[in-house]
Amino acid sequence: MSTIDVRADELAPSQPRTHDTAPLTPPSPAFDFDVAIVGLGYVGLPTALAYHASGSRVLALDVSPRRLRTIAARGADLIDTDRERLDTALRTPAAFRLTSDTAELSRAAAIIVCVPTPVDHQQVPDLAPLRAACATVVAAARPGQLVMLTSTTYVGCTHDLVEAPLRERGFEIGRDVFVTFSAERIDPGNIGFAQEVVPRVVGGATPQCEEEGARLLARYAARVHRVSSLATAEMTKLLENTFRAVNIALANEFADICGALDVPVTEVIEAASTKPYGFMAFYPGPGVGGHCIPCDPHYLLWQLKALHVDAGVITEAMTRIAARPRRVVDRIRDVLGRAGKGTLGARVLVVGVTYKPDVADLRESPALEIIDHLIDVGAEVQYVDTHAPHIHLDSGRERDSLPDPAAFHPDIVLVHTRHHDADLAWLDGDAVVVDGTYRSSDIAGRVLL
Ligand SMILES: NC(=O)c1ccc[n+]([C@@H]2O[C@H](COP(=O)([O-])OP(=O)(O)OC[C@H]3O[C@@H](n4cnc5c(N)ncnc54)[C@H](O)[C@@H]3O)[C@@H](O)[C@H]2O)c1
Repeated sequence: MSTIDVRADELAPSQPRTHDTAPLTPPSPAFDFDVAIVGLGYVGLPTALAYHASGSRVLALDVSPRRLRTIAARGADLIDTDRERLDTALRTPAAFRLTSDTAELSRAAAIIVCVPTPVDHQQVPDLAPLRAACATVVAAARPGQLVMLTSTTYVGCTHDLVEAPLRERGFEIGRDVFVTFSAERIDPGNIGFAQEVVPRVVGGATPQCEEEGARLLARYAARVHRVSSLATAEMTKLLENTFRAVNIALANEFADICGALDVPVTEVIEAASTKPYGFMAFYPGPGVGGHCIPCDPHYLLWQLKALHVDAGVITEAMTRIAARPRRVVDRIRDVLGRAGKGTLGARVLVVGVTYKPDVADLRESPALEIIDHLIDVGAEVQYVDTHAPHIHLDSGRERDSLPDPAAFHPDIVLVHTRHHDADLAWLDGDAVVVDGTYRSSDIAGRVLL
């Protein structure tokens, strides 16, 4: 496999590195790198940068040469602070090495796996990337190394894909090598919660593994919460994201109920939020996207199915979540009908197509399904989104973001995602606006979903 290096002659003079948190244990002289990050996506790249900023020598590995080129060209979708960190890291190649060569993993004292854990079209977990990454890590393992899985996954996965295969290779876990799980809690694009300030939960295959895992995380995380096993740590992440999924489904249902009773749902949620305990605000919307909420609860449901364990509440929430984009299409057709227009030939403009504000991430975005389905029923659909200049729909259709949305003269506008820098000044009041965010109260005459 090839190795992507940043050449010394491309480098600006090196800058002093900051050590936000001193490493608890000195870097081992037996290893060239303190930590290797496997998978440099929305989670892995910021994690690699956080370790580098804390003074660790980082081996940053991805199987995709294209991804490595994007990172080296500073083209990755990052918040500003991580963009600055990347600039600094790329100036110090001895301490931040980008590579696709898996053989190099044996040079790192600790290996953190951050590869995708998606679901397929039948909502069955696709473990292929995680299996491949773990097999690589196990094959490269050498005495003294620590392996940490951070990808969200089913309960028992770290045992199945890392602990058991390492034992088969003859390692004694907790003595020769250390096996841990600590789910990543990063919220890409959210500048309110820096990765370092969010506590990490860690479990180990043995108490010594847990200890070593906590040390590794403490190099950059402000707080580490230890749990008694790998399974507890794995299940903690599943609870966190299932909790969100169920509450989003409930918020959507409350929005529909409030619509039927003509009560403003956002005002209700904000009023309920004044209660300092026993309530947490979740807001309704056009559906959920990204790599977590539409996927993670299915890892649990898939596992429970094999055990014949009923999880009715979670199953119902996930069914409702999956149905939400169709509900949006029905509502658009309904609003058009009330304005005396049919769907056939109606000009629909979707504002914001990424799954949440201020990221370029289109994975599982409800907007894609909404647009495809609106086109299926005869509407003429365009979109505008400065964070997503081009989209591919599941149907194979493609669209480009409109440079001049006003010139499209839409019959109806769906505000799907509102980036903080989105300019809606062109909305002249002629088009009907459906507010899929429920929170665009500045748009005169909007109707809610
Ligand atoms: N994105 C989020 O908001 C978020 C938040 C918390 C946790 N997570 C979890 O973190 C994990 C990673 O998610 P992500 O959003 O960073 O994924 P991503 O798709 O953005 O990035 C994954 C990267 O891993 C690389 N990769 C795939 N297989 C590999 C292999 N065998 N070896 C090396 N690299 C490989 C891909 O090329 C890609 O660059 C998932 O389990 C996800 O559920 C994601």
